[in-house]
Amino acid sequence: MILVTGGAGFIGSNFVLQWIAHESGPVVNLDKLTYAGNPDNLADLKGDTRHLLVRGDINDRALVGKLLREHRPRAIVHFAAESHVDRSIHGPTDFVHTNILGTFSLLEEARSFWSELKEPDRSGFRFLHVSTDEVYGSLAPHDPAFTETTPYAPNSPYAASKAASDHLVRSYHHTYGLPTVTTNCSNNYGPYQFPEKLIPLMVLNGLRRKPLPVYGDGQNVRDWLYVEDHCVAVRLVLGKGRAGETYNIGGRCEMTNLEVARAICVLLDEARPRDAPHEKLIGFVKDRPGHDRRYAMDTRKIEAEFGWKPKESFATGLRKTVEWYLDNAKWVERVTSGEYQRWIEANYSNREMGNRK
Ligand code: NAD
Ligand code: TYD
Repeated sequence: MILVTGGAGFIGSNFVLQWIAHESGPVVNLDKLTYAGNPDNLADLKGDTRHLLVRGDINDRALVGKLLREHRPRAIVHFAAESHVDRSIHGPTDFVHTNILGTFSLLEEARSFWSELKEPDRSGFRFLHVSTDEVYGSLAPHDPAFTETTPYAPNSPYAASKAASDHLVRSYHHTYGLPTVTTNCSNNYGPYQFPEKLIPLMVLNGLRRKPLPVYGDGQNVRDWLYVEDHCVAVRLVLGKGRAGETYNIGGRCEMTNLEVARAICVLLDEARPRDAPHEKLIGFVKDRPGHDRRYAMDTRKIEAEFGWKPKESFATGLRKTVEWYLDNAKWVERVTSGEYQRWIEANYSNREMGNRK
C-alpha cells in the first residue's frame, strides 16, 4: 500500500495508472480535486479495488492522520501542488497554502505515523517528495546544467513555494530522521496534462485554428521529458533511493519554446492537412514577468545509480501526445469548459498578439 497525493492531476494520474499496471501494491489517492484534479484521468481504474480516490486537502491533518493509520502505507508519494507559474503570478496565495503549508502538514502527519512504526517498517518507510527544476533558478545559454548541488534560486512564487517545501522535506530528514527522498524534474508533457501548460495549450489551440501565443521572443529554453519516463524514474527512486538524497530527473532535451511550437505545428499539419500550415497561427505575446530564460538538468546521478534513461525522444513523445489529444476529444471537452475558459480570459486578455509568424 502506498499513499499518493495529487494523484488526480497530470503527473500523479499517470503515476497511479503506471503503478497499478506494473506494481503489486494498492494505492490510496488523496486529492483535493482542484481545477487541475480530474477523476476522468483515472477512469480506467473504475471498479479496480487496488485504487481508492479520497477527496481531501493535504492540509486536513485529521484526514491525513486517519488515512495513514487506517491504510498503513509503506510510502507517501507527494505530487499534490499548485503547479502553474502563470497562476502563481496572478495569485500566489494558493501556492503558499498547498505547496508550503500543505507539505508541512503532510510531513508532520508522516512523522507522527512513522515514529510509531517498528523495524523493519520504520527504516523501510519513504516520504517521496516530487519537486521541480525551477527551484534552481535560471541558466545563461552556456551555463552547465543544474546538478543536485546547485544552490537554490527560485524566481517565481511557484518556484519559491516548491523550494520552501523542498527545504522542509530536507529538514525533516536531517532533524527527525524521517526517511525522505526528493526528486527534482524538468518540464513534463504527455496525456492528461491540463491545457493551461504550453504543449497541450498549443495542440488544442492549433486544432481549433486559434492563435499559438509564444511569450516574449520565444527563445526561453526548457528541458522536456515525457511524463511516463518521469513516472518510471519516481518508481525507481521510491524503490532504490537512499533516504535523505535528492535526484535530478530530466530529458536531456533542451528546446526553445519557438522550436516546441513549430514541432507541434508539423504534427498538426499531418493530422489536419486541410488547415496547414499551422505555423501561421504562431504569434508573439507579452512576456511572463520574471520569465526564467533556461532550465537544463544534469541527470548523471540517477543514470549512474539506477541506470535510468528516458525511453521516449521528444519526437516520439510529442507524436504520442498529439495523438492522445486527438483521440480523447471527450476528455478535452470536459476540461475546457467553465474554470478553464475563465483562466484563458484572465491570462491572455492583456497580452495582445503581435508579430504573427
Ligand atoms: P497538476 O496541477 O496537474 O496536479 C496537481 C494535483 O494536486 C491536482 O490533482 C490537484 O487537485 C491536487 N491538489 C492541489 N492542491 C491540493 C491540496 N491542497 N490537497 C490535495 N490535493 C491537491 O500538477 P502536475 O503537473 O501533475 O505536477 C505534480 C507535481 O509534480 C507537482 O508537485 C509539481 O510541482 C511537480 N512537477 C511538475 C512538473 C510539470 O512539468 N508538470 C515538472 C516537475 C515537477
Ligand atoms: P509552462 O508549460 O507554463 O511551464 P513552466 O513555466 O513551468 O516551464 O511553460 C513552458 C514555457 O512556455 C515557458 O517558458 C513559458 C512558455 N509559454 C508560452 O510561451 N506561451 C504560453 O501560452 C504558455 C502557457 C507558456
